[in-house]
Amino acid sequence: MNKNSNKADVIAIDGPAGSGKSTTAKILARKLGFLFLDTGAMYRALTLKAMRQGIDLDDEDALKRLVDNTSVRLSNRDGKLHVLLDGEDVSREIRSAEVSRNVARVAAKGAVRERMVQLQREFAETGSVVAEGRDVGTVVFPDAKLKIFLVASIEERARRRMRETDSAARLQEMMADLKKRDEADSLRDHSPLVKAEDAIEVDTTGLTIEQQVNLIAQLWEKKKK
Ligand code: DC
Repeated sequence: MNKNSNKADVIAIDGPAGSGKSTTAKILARKLGFLFLDTGAMYRALTLKAMRQGIDLDDEDALKRLVDNTSVRLSNRDGKLHVLLDGEDVSREIRSAEVSRNVARVAAKGAVRERMVQLQREFAETGSVVAEGRDVGTVVFPDAKLKIFLVASIEERARRRMRETDSAARLQEMMADLKKRDEADSLRDHSPLVKAEDAIEVDTTGLTIEQQVNLIAQLWEKKKK
């Protein structure tokens, strides 16, 4: 057993795209001195490798072989998260539009998820973590001490995405795109996006990042007592 396994804490933050998970989790982790576990980044890294190798993203067997022969590591360095794919820093490449378009197909495969969940749990053995994703409170860390389910109105989420990605897309298009993603994440067979029974729902519509972080930090303080 890892020497930290009795001490390490997990804060699990799930929610749909654009709900503010990543930014909130990153800042909260820094504030609490926890590691930041961006599970989506891991699915993105594998997707990048599959695309580079020209693998059919609907071929589950091929993806299983790929994931079994791939190292995906996250490293929190200089206040930043670095994503290492077979040792190569791909932190920037995994945010490309092509990867964003394809990642849901890869993340929907059971064999891929099984291995990723294993890696995510191993990561959490190295210290306390703020983990964010779609299934971190339900599947990856069902015993997390604090579970948050972040939501926001679709319009607000679309506005945030447009700002973040510097996108020229129109609001209506972005909203339609988010709706499609929500459906894909919520209706898939493996680990769909659902709120864990014991998660606290936080609606971030109209909140600043600072307010979101402070709210969750307060919930954490209460939980710890
Ligand atoms: O949060 P993100 O946009 O980086 O996530 C990328 C994709 O990975 C998105 O399609 C949802 C999926 N994902 C997942 O299925 N499970 C997770 N724990 C995290 C992300």
